[in-house]
Amino acid sequence: MDTKRWNIKNNETFHNQSIHEAAELITQGETVAFPTETVYGLGADATNESAVAKIFKAKGRPQDNPLIAHVATVEQLKRLVDNLPAYAEKLMKEFSPGPLTYVLPSNGMCADNVTAGLSTIGVRIPDHPIAQELLKLADVPVAAPSANLSGKPSPTTANHVWDDLNGRIAGLLDGGPTGVGLESTVIDCTQDIPIILRPGGITKEQLEDVVGPVMIDPGLANTKERPMSPGMKYKHYSPEVPLWLIEGAPEKLQSVIDREKQNGNRIGVLASRACAEQIQADEIISLGENIDEIAANLYEALRKFKQGDVDLIICEAFPEDGIGQAVMNRLRKASDI
Ligand code: TXA
Ligand code: MG
Repeated sequence: MDTKRWNIKNNETFHNQSIHEAAELITQGETVAFPTETVYGLGADATNESAVAKIFKAKGRPQDNPLIAHVATVEQLKRLVDNLPAYAEKLMKEFSPGPLTYVLPSNGMCADNVTAGLSTIGVRIPDHPIAQELLKLADVPVAAPSANLSGKPSPTTANHVWDDLNGRIAGLLDGGPTGVGLESTVIDCTQDIPIILRPGGITKEQLEDVVGPVMIDPGLANTKERPMSPGMKYKHYSPEVPLWLIEGAPEKLQSVIDREKQNGNRIGVLASRACAEQIQADEIISLGENIDEIAANLYEALRKFKQGDVDLIICEAFPEDGIGQAVMNRLRKASDI
């Protein structure tokens, strides 16, 4: 299949012919990748089972991993769910549009393969002008996982999507690099107390400021317990070469690097700027000065290390405050130790 690629300059969405064409493809049952404020998504009409099946096929995604339905407004979101608890409405007022996905009881409006047979559905209102315009024009809920091949790091630029999915999807809206750089926080809103199923763009602290205590799925920390969200059990976000996550000062990282170099390995390093400046290795990528920059640059950096260039990636472990929790969640999933 030929993948049509449209370039949207400066987020010019008003009467934009390209976004019209993309929305038309979606209503015709095709797949289109588009930017959101977190990562690029691969969208299809969530009410059309055969359209949704094309997403699973293009990504090579396991059938038991449910998709998030994207809508433009809270009104549209409410048409997909039953029993919205008061705390979820509060969260929506504060964080939607934005990088927060609500898991709520499904009312069956979306196709069965969106929810992978679960009685709940994940719903999100993305905060990106191109995504918003696409959703408004398509006027259907749009199922959209991250637009990468399953297992690879999520795409934060249109080129990442192109590398993974060119020829496998109908269209790609190029809106430049995404902002947050990590996926949305997924929060289960079916219990009395909300539970974070996947840490992400909205932090636990931000959520608790609005609704009081929030739990974290114990399965995220404890490898013996199965995560509550199907997607969290898979190895994910994997670079082409093994990644080791090392806690401690730069000297600690350097000692591991030196040992592995003596073993004949070429070493790549991922670290904050402060740490990167103190390290010597074959290739070093500085992820940025603070945890927000580190989050925004992480997936691009993971994709940069190619087989043949380095044999092993050594990555600094970061403090788990704020979005650091999501950064470390992704790095643990990407890492081999
Ligand atoms: O930021 C994001 O969330 C991006 C952009 C494109 O919106 N999307 C994204 O989708 O990351 P995906 O499919 O890569 O990840 C969705 C996660 C998976 O871990 C999935 O298992 C979980 O959300 N999920 C979806 N529906 C669920 C449900 N009903 N119950 C529990 N977990 C659910
Ligand atoms: Mg994904």
